[in-house]
Amino acid sequence: MIHRFENPDLARGWCAEERGHGRTLGFVPTMGALHEGHLGLVRRAREENDRVCVSVFVNPLQFDDPGDYERYRRDFEGDAGLLAEHGCDMAFTGTLEQFFPRSGGSLEAVARVDPGPVAEGLEGTFRPGHFAGVATIVQRLFEVVRPTRAYFGAKDFQQTLVVAEVARRMDGPEIVVCPTSREASGLARASRNEQLAPDQRREAATLHRALVAARERWRAGERSAAELAAAMGRVLEPAPLAVEYAEVRDPERWTATAPDAPLERAVALVAAKLGRVRLIDNLRLDDAP
Ligand code: PAJ
Repeated sequence: MIHRFENPDLARGWCAEERGHGRTLGFVPTMGALHEGHLGLVRRAREENDRVCVSVFVNPLQFDDPGDYERYRRDFEGDAGLLAEHGCDMAFTGTLEQFFPRSGGSLEAVARVDPGPVAEGLEGTFRPGHFAGVATIVQRLFEVVRPTRAYFGAKDFQQTLVVAEVARRMDGPEIVVCPTSREASGLARASRNEQLAPDQRREAATLHRALVAARERWRAGERSAAELAAAMGRVLEPAPLAVEYAEVRDPERWTATAPDAPLERAVALVAAKLGRVRLIDNLRLDDAP
């Protein structure tokens, strides 16, 4: 049986009671419109904890495009049904005002959490304010749930750095990063993929092909971030995509710009728009999991 709360205060009470019984709590924060990528996180949380809880909240603080916020699919009932089938014990949602009562429901009145230097560059550059919005809601969600472990997808690589920093500062949960779930074409699953027309969906797989091209160059011995990025560029350039960035970073030492020195470890990251749908993806180039 799944418990469902449309108020974070009720969720807080449930979590406190479970913790009071000495149970470990696995937590998966989401914005809903759930797909196999999210469900993979839920399954992993199920394996590693006594109780699993999931938040479903389309967080207005992290959207830089009002149209994107409006179009985002909201279906708490449908999501809660899927979660029940996957062994989730509690799902909750709420309103901006319930999460941040002192804001009176006004976006501007919510005090933002500083996401720190890992928010600089790439997503931070193309989506100003996005990571402050993520850090703010994730800190609040951690305060509500006080989980033992919290689960995030590698698909949003820079976000995993931001939430790890939030958790570190508040002495919060262990952060578990799970692999990216992909379609057969290589396209990373994402709630926004629902908005792609069939021909756009085929085109969207170009992002993954570009990442794989960079990995082939890495395996052939290339260690220059600029050269690895150029390999991605050659795949992306002919495609009808509006590329925002295709770059390489050291995954363990985040820098706003690409490192000049030869890389010891590498992650390739890409963002592009297909029509009005914005897609991101990344791939470890070295053989780290
Ligand atoms: P959302 O996009 O709903 O994603 C929720 C979690 O699922 C994130 O940790 C994300 O990385 C993970 N995820 C999404 N697609 C995935 C895929 N194909 N494979 C593996 N994991 C995947 O990310 C957010 O929501 C929000 O920013 C949130 C953290 C909830 C804060 O509002």
